[in-house]
Amino acid sequence: MDTAIDDRIFEALRYERDRDHPPPGFPALPEIPGGRYTRRDFFDLEIAHVFRRSWVLAGLEDELPNPGDYKRFGKLLGSPILLVRGRDNEVRAFYNTCRHRGAPVVRGESGHCNILRCQYHSWSYDFDGRLVQVPDEHDFVGLRKAERGLIPLRCETYRGLIFVNEDPNAVPLLEHMGALAEEWSWTLPKGSRFDYHWSRVMNCNWKCALDAFQEVYHINTLHPVTVGAMLDHSAATMGLLPNGNSRMCVRLSQADIDHRPASGWPKGEMYRRSSVAQTLWPALNVPWSIGSGKFILFWPRSPGQCEVEVYGLGPDWGEGPLPPERVTANERFDGILEEDVSNLEAIQASLESGAFTGMILNYQERRIYWSHEEIDRSIGPQRVPPELRVKQVLSPFVEGAPGEG
Ligand code: FES
Ligand SMILES: [Fe+2]
Repeated sequence: MDTAIDDRIFEALRYERDRDHPPPGFPALPEIPGGRYTRRDFFDLEIAHVFRRSWVLAGLEDELPNPGDYKRFGKLLGSPILLVRGRDNEVRAFYNTCRHRGAPVVRGESGHCNILRCQYHSWSYDFDGRLVQVPDEHDFVGLRKAERGLIPLRCETYRGLIFVNEDPNAVPLLEHMGALAEEWSWTLPKGSRFDYHWSRVMNCNWKCALDAFQEVYHINTLHPVTVGAMLDHSAATMGLLPNGNSRMCVRLSQADIDHRPASGWPKGEMYRRSSVAQTLWPALNVPWSIGSGKFILFWPRSPGQCEVEVYGLGPDWGEGPLPPERVTANERFDGILEEDVSNLEAIQASLESGAFTGMILNYQERRIYWSHEEIDRSIGPQRVPPELRVKQVLSPFVEGAPGEG
């Protein structure tokens, strides 16, 4: 385990607690145009160039334990996807689109099968996507089955998480994760189990929801008796990481540190002595606590609507029901989540009124600005309407760069 990261985080927390202004040279963050949260043209650019070209969490290996287990994944707007475990135990992803006339090969949400048989005219595909059977094949003149397999997309797994990416030229998942691949390896033991699921459609832009999880400036106001009582928002460090990723560590009160086990799970002083949450670009936020990590996903549905979905994962608890302390922790998380989402639809209404034209962010909120910069880098700044572009200012403050505080 890399203890250098612990030293870096604790030094940064001391710095943040003691400072009375942002580090020298930290810029005034330009206003974020409100249209980035409301306009259809900008939303379409995000879907095409961000979501359909990024690694997104599509499910858990737990959901597909055996060869022939499949599930549909339809959260990625415009992309009907099918995940299936192969006879070689590999999980693969394909478009759920039959190569005959485009019907969905499977219609059920999930299930188990011996072969993927299209429910329209029974063209059949093996779990590796090969077209193996065509009824009345002799009537398709010149059909070459080898050329009409299911269309694959990139699919890679990390410690039980299944990610897909529609960009065939994307960097490997681990390369995209960067430092987070190692940091999550300390907290996701092999054999981690899924213990929580929550999903809700919200009438707000996906970024409006994600923003609420990328800063702790709000905790004393919005969470005065929950998170606010436990954390010191003035001792919070925001690691801006390459590829749009980021990490937030917030100092825990001494009483909370004393309460946490000195060894065992989660491993690493960073997790034991601070409240850690990372964002894996573009829209996966993961806050950690003793006994569980919550994988919060923000799925765009329209400029003014998203789905917020949460998976909880933690160490295997063996036989029987989830231990009571894990149930209590999940209920506590529910309460915090309710506080976080309570503002979102009203914020969206403000943005859509046109009266509120843009938002102003402070130094503590810089992870939000970092996400906006990465959106423009992914879309290609020249494609973003000039009045909606954000200026690129934070690269000198990426973790390890000279300007970082
Ligand atoms: S569309 Fe699938 S078999 Fe015809
Ligand atoms: Fe919050």
